[in-house]
Amino acid sequence: MAAAGPPVPDLADRADACAERLRAADRVLLASHIDADGLTSAAIASAALARAGIDHEVVFEKQLDGEAVAGIAAREYDTVLFTDFGSGQLDIIADHEAAGDFTPVIADHHQPADADTEFHLNPLLFGINGASELSGAGASYVLARALEGPDGDNRDLAGLAVVGAVGDMQDSGDGLVGANEGLVHDGVEAGVLETRTDLDLYGRQTRPLPKLLEYASDVRIPGVSNDQAGAISFLSELDLDLKSGGDWRRWVDLNDEERRTLVSALMQRAVASGVPADRINELVGTSYTLVDEERGTELRDVSEFSTLLNATARYERADVGLAVCLGDRDEALAEARSLLRNHRRNLSEGLQWVKTEGVTTEEHIQWFDAGSRIRETIVGIVAGMAVGSPAVDRSMPVIAFAEKSATELKVSARGSHTLVRQGLDLSVVMREASQAVGGDGGGHDVAAGATIPTGERDAFIATADALVGEQTS
Ligand code: C5P
Ligand code: C5P
Ligand code: ZN
Repeated sequence: MAAAGPPVPDLADRADACAERLRAADRVLLASHIDADGLTSAAIASAALARAGIDHEVVFEKQLDGEAVAGIAAREYDTVLFTDFGSGQLDIIADHEAAGDFTPVIADHHQPADADTEFHLNPLLFGINGASELSGAGASYVLARALEGPDGDNRDLAGLAVVGAVGDMQDSGDGLVGANEGLVHDGVEAGVLETRTDLDLYGRQTRPLPKLLEYASDVRIPGVSNDQAGAISFLSELDLDLKSGGDWRRWVDLNDEERRTLVSALMQRAVASGVPADRINELVGTSYTLVDEERGTELRDVSEFSTLLNATARYERADVGLAVCLGDRDEALAEARSLLRNHRRNLSEGLQWVKTEGVTTEEHIQWFDAGSRIRETIVGIVAGMAVGSPAVDRSMPVIAFAEKSATELKVSARGSHTLVRQGLDLSVVMREASQAVGGDGGGHDVAAGATIPTGERDAFIATADALVGEQTS
């Protein structure tokens, strides 16, 4: 079982102040971001508000820019709760607050813009890393705990917070760390979450065994990864029943002994193929299971759950993802699964496109411009997948462009923890390079994004290249 994360009293005090302000409101407009972390943030906050008897409505925004904040102000709620965004747009929000439009309460983990407000709950203000130790859903969860009544217990919401953290890729491979460990601890205590050391491949609940191995991209094993026939022949050589009732079995269908057999064979194969020892260790990691969810479903594994949520929110169906987070296992779940099939197809086609077209390499960055071939809401996910694939050089960040509108380009940048240790901070690169060409951006050190005017792409690339060079030199 995970130990509780370090206690952070100041963060809890700030959460208390935010909760106090929310309780004083007649009604609250809850605004959140359209990805897995944003959806789980909204679900946690919405559940906590409902349990506290606070009337509220939920809206989602793709990007919280001036126009979106103005739209929120026009709704005439006197209290607006922003989750998983808000910090990066604090300057805009503070102007509305000063104009008396609404009182903002913010539970976010992005780099704050240069302004502040009273009810601002962000791990970065308290020495906690917002890219690896607490996500938007984590901040929202801290708020939810502060909203508990005397007999309340919102610890059951910790499971969703873990889905959000993993959706934002805060699980580095050694499991969740820092304040996130505290959430894991709560989830385990509340009986909703189970952790174990397990094969660390995506799709343990739902993928047939050959697909589990074939699609594994983080640790590439020659002759197995990316190789359908190879994966099947590798499995066939093991002393394992591979099928049950004519269907391929999945990882969840194996018993402990069968799992050990598979892991050790996989490791032997990796060693024999010359995969470096530190990469081989990455084959095993911590799994987080939501124990109340049905076995063999996307919802039981937090990582698969987060993909399911992205498949809704990134396609303008955040309502579907939110309903699933809030417990709908009928219509909303069926709809989410259908959206997931479409999302998978788009990711696979997008990654294939990048592999075929290749990237352009500058001095310190590499980039590709997908135009309208990859949807702007998922180009960041594709860029992240590209960083893990042989298509790109892992020693440089990847910057991806996609068409947002006739006049604007969406930019998504992805790096690695190794590059961050060398000084890379993509949130600064995205903010400065975009602002230099009349756009805006931000995010985290390891993953960030921006919007820029279409004609400014090459000027943006030149500035970003120079900034990355300065950071990592
Ligand atoms: O807006 P937000 O914080 O939710 O998005 C974070 C993004 O950063 C996610 O798309 C996530 O996939 C990406 N990320 C990443 N690698 C990390 C941390 C985050 O690609 N190590
Ligand atoms: O959209 P994408 O997944 O690339 O975003 C990566 C990170 O950058 C997210 O945390 C997102 O909130 C942030 N971002 C931002 N400003 C933008 C675009 C993205 O702060 N204009
Ligand atoms: Zn987030």
